[in-house]
Amino acid sequence: MLTEIVEDYDAMSIRAATLVAQQINEKPDAVIGFATGSTPVGVYHHLIRMHRDEGLDFSKLTCFNLDEYIGLTPQHTQSYHHFMWQNLFLHVNVDPRSVFIPMGMANDPEKFCDWYEQQIQASGGVDLQLLGIGGNGHLAFNEPGASLGSRTRVTALTQDTIDANARFFESSQEVPATAITMGIGTILESKCLVLMASGEKKAQAIKATLEGPVMVMMPASAIQLHANVHVIIDKGAASALEYDHHDGIAESIRTDAS
Ligand code: PGA
Repeated sequence: MLTEIVEDYDAMSIRAATLVAQQINEKPDAVIGFATGSTPVGVYHHLIRMHRDEGLDFSKLTCFNLDEYIGLTPQHTQSYHHFMWQNLFLHVNVDPRSVFIPMGMANDPEKFCDWYEQQIQASGGVDLQLLGIGGNGHLAFNEPGASLGSRTRVTALTQDTIDANARFFESSQEVPATAITMGIGTILESKCLVLMASGEKKAQAIKATLEGPVMVMMPASAIQLHANVHVIIDKGAASALEYDHHDGIAESIRTDAS
């Protein structure tokens, strides 16, 4: 695990965008896993700039998103379809036929989940997966208690997550209570994971993810099991860490630690 602690949100965003751009330049037909939420907005801003100013080419990519609310149409302004098109896809030369986002209005969501897994397999698997982290340690909509081997499925949101996401809706009653999410097992099959976090509100979850045990009550801790993880966090998100994680070698930075 390679952990980089950077100054602030913008530095985190530039660093993660640079990793995505390197992946695209190395393999123009790469499969990229995208994430939603406040965390990756800056990454998408920089990827759009790289496309516009540096010719970063999205035309051969295949794109998979982590999750989507059940019951929201793709046109709903709080759907993750809408988020991805507004924040990234409309502004780059991605092929719409190669964009996969879970369908919150699927007639048969269970069947849709199996189909989504098959599409990931058929694409050759995700080369680079961007990830945010919930304040409760969730990864995509894999909430505390989610099996570490879980696959793409229908899942219930915890009240913590509903409350956290209520800021985007008129009220918490309007936040859907269920979602389709890639499973933790699905995510761990990506060839490279890039986990980002910004701000002190993520500090405890980051500490538990990087320094705690791997456990179902802290879904993001599952990344410890992956051989190729890049963690990019700003000083706020790193503020509860007790160890120096430089280059994956944990060394105590507390002078009083034994
Ligand atoms: P945020 O959400 O980026 O809006 O903080 C991340 C998450 O819940 O996974």
